[in-house]
Amino acid sequence: MRVLTGIQPSGALHLGNYFGAIKQMLDLQENSDLFIFIANYHALTSLKDAKALSDNTLDAAINFLSLGIDPAKTTFWVQSDVKEVLELYWILSGYTPMGLLERAHSYKDKVAKGIAANHSLFSYPVLMAADILLYDSQIVPVGKDQIQHVEITRDIALKFNNDLGDILTLPEFKVDDNVATVPGLDGAKMSKSYGNTIDIFCDEKELKKTTGKIVTDSTPMEEPKDFEKCNVFALAKLFLDAKEVKELEARYAKGGEGYGHFKAYLKDLIWNHFKQSREKREYYLANTNEVREILDNGAKKARKIAQEKMVLIRELVGIYR
Ligand code: ADP
Ligand code: TRP
Repeated sequence: MRVLTGIQPSGALHLGNYFGAIKQMLDLQENSDLFIFIANYHALTSLKDAKALSDNTLDAAINFLSLGIDPAKTTFWVQSDVKEVLELYWILSGYTPMGLLERAHSYKDKVAKGIAANHSLFSYPVLMAADILLYDSQIVPVGKDQIQHVEITRDIALKFNNDLGDILTLPEFKVDDNVATVPGLDGAKMSKSYGNTIDIFCDEKELKKTTGKIVTDSTPMEEPKDFEKCNVFALAKLFLDAKEVKELEARYAKGGEGYGHFKAYLKDLIWNHFKQSREKREYYLANTNEVREILDNGAKKARKIAQEKMVLIRELVGIYR
């Protein structure tokens, strides 16, 4: 089963990214043919700072490898290392009705947020379709905001197949409904755009400071506390097994501990959970050649599949060689 997903290289990763997306990838790499690429062409639609984009690309690779993406199990590369995707993007454009793109929420949302309404932003879903169709992807794990893009991909593939024969594989999106929205410091959805994140790779002092900022009520220390309404509890739970959750509930119900204690407990949970990933990250930061080599190998594997697919597609549409 070929499972493919793209990740935007967009800076520091937070607990929402980890529990909402990365953990699923780690599970998927154990039992599927997982393809993950860093979508730097897509990032180019809104990031116009060359150094930031290239730094973020390498950074994303280092972060994902440190968190457990295993190049022995997963084909992992940078989107722009397989140029065939741009050729397919152009060919698919001819099978993409304007109305399909005009209806895309993500384009409308981005323009409403003040991002310049340029053509790459508009045609973004066609490039995403090329990413997916080039590798015969069957399953595409995405966040809810990306479902429409996978549906657009199916529409484009259907039109292409109708005209030219059954050549493109129709993908299905996969949204994990079991994944709860991870709350941020203020209880709203944790998100970079809300400035309420707890970053995975900050230092210990920073982590202590950030967890200290989690909003709680003002129940006095001695009194029992309502764990169900507590953001600290909601975050701690993500790291605990059923027995440990029960124990923490009991501590809340008993009283005698203040939120400061629970925040310190949460800080330790986070810090310990990512210990190994931090060490790996230090290693990769000091050995970026190794990271580039991993990405090169991934690109080589991806390119082979892409090149074979493009031979068929070029022939069908009549592109000379
Ligand atoms: P941000 O909102 O910080 O910009 P992104 O949109 O880059 O995060 O999210 C990347 C991935 O992480 C997506 O698959 C998204 O569903 C997941 N994700 C982000 N924030 C959360 C959250 N608070 N809870 C669950 N999943 C999240
Ligand atoms: N658009 C996706 C996002 O913003 C990233 C992406 C690019 C992607 N190409 C893809 C995801 C192909 C899945 C499949 O998160």
